[in-house]
Amino acid sequence: MTISDEQAKREHELVETVVDSFADAPDERLKLLMQSLTRHLHAFVREVRLTEPEWNAAIAFLTAAGHITDERRQEFVLMSDVFGLSMQTVAVNNEAYANATEATVFGPFFTADAPLIENGGDISGSAPGEPCWVEGTVKDTRGQTVAGARIEVWEADEDGFYDVQYGDDRVAGRAHLFSDDAGEFRFWGLTPTPYPIPDDGPVGQMLAAVGRSPYRASHLHFMVTAPGFRTLVTHIFVSGDELLARDSVFGVKESLIKDFVAQPAGTPTPDGRELGEQSWTRTRFDIVLAPADVTTTP
Ligand code: BEZ
Ligand code: FE
Repeated sequence: MTISDEQAKREHELVETVVDSFADAPDERLKLLMQSLTRHLHAFVREVRLTEPEWNAAIAFLTAAGHITDERRQEFVLMSDVFGLSMQTVAVNNEAYANATEATVFGPFFTADAPLIENGGDISGSAPGEPCWVEGTVKDTRGQTVAGARIEVWEADEDGFYDVQYGDDRVAGRAHLFSDDAGEFRFWGLTPTPYPIPDDGPVGQMLAAVGRSPYRASHLHFMVTAPGFRTLVTHIFVSGDELLARDSVFGVKESLIKDFVAQPAGTPTPDGRELGEQSWTRTRFDIVLAPADVTTTP
């Protein structure tokens, strides 16, 4: 749509007036954020020639997001996730560094007080699902092993729910452990299965309106911390999962897709655990940590 020179001048003057209103902000970073946000928001309104009913619908959407948000449900983070803004923020803040493992979204289901397990222990607790043996190493970008790295792992059960979603204080499908003196770790978890992000609110309605699925590709969450290294928040994904190409929060990275190798019932387990008639899977995740406080590739 073309607009007259006079109309364009009026619209441009309004943008500059609003930008100028932030000129005296005492904090330079805040000033930059507010002025840039102003320019981008006005550019959007002008580009799409936003109608007043559309403006009203946007306000109603944000209001509904506010109403459904409480200590347990964070609709604004979900909104950020489905727009890919969470992943873009992860990308900006975890710049590629040598062969360091890629980061991905944190998600809403981490808890800080997950139980400690020994190497070789089981994170699943009472959570239902097919057992999965996970093993790997933690190394730095020069290949030196990192002993004593704290590894937090969490995942949904085979019904697609995290323990915290049951609202009954159960702790299952999560734990923390430490890499051993050889930088190795191993544990039993569950073979990841796909599940939808919470879609009974305005974000779910928006996804339905645009014909997008709320499903996430099957994954297992990791957060790895060690002194002197950049904290790694990531997942591993299951190769062959048909949802890999359309994860609802854009979290999939090629480097994080792993083979979860099927083991028929009766296959001997790595630690001698007896699983009877139960099939299981096994996977490997070798983690490479970037040094702390690095922003560019050497
Ligand atoms: C998750 O991986 O658990 C998750 C991530 C983003 C939004 C909802 C759930
Ligand atoms: Fe998840």
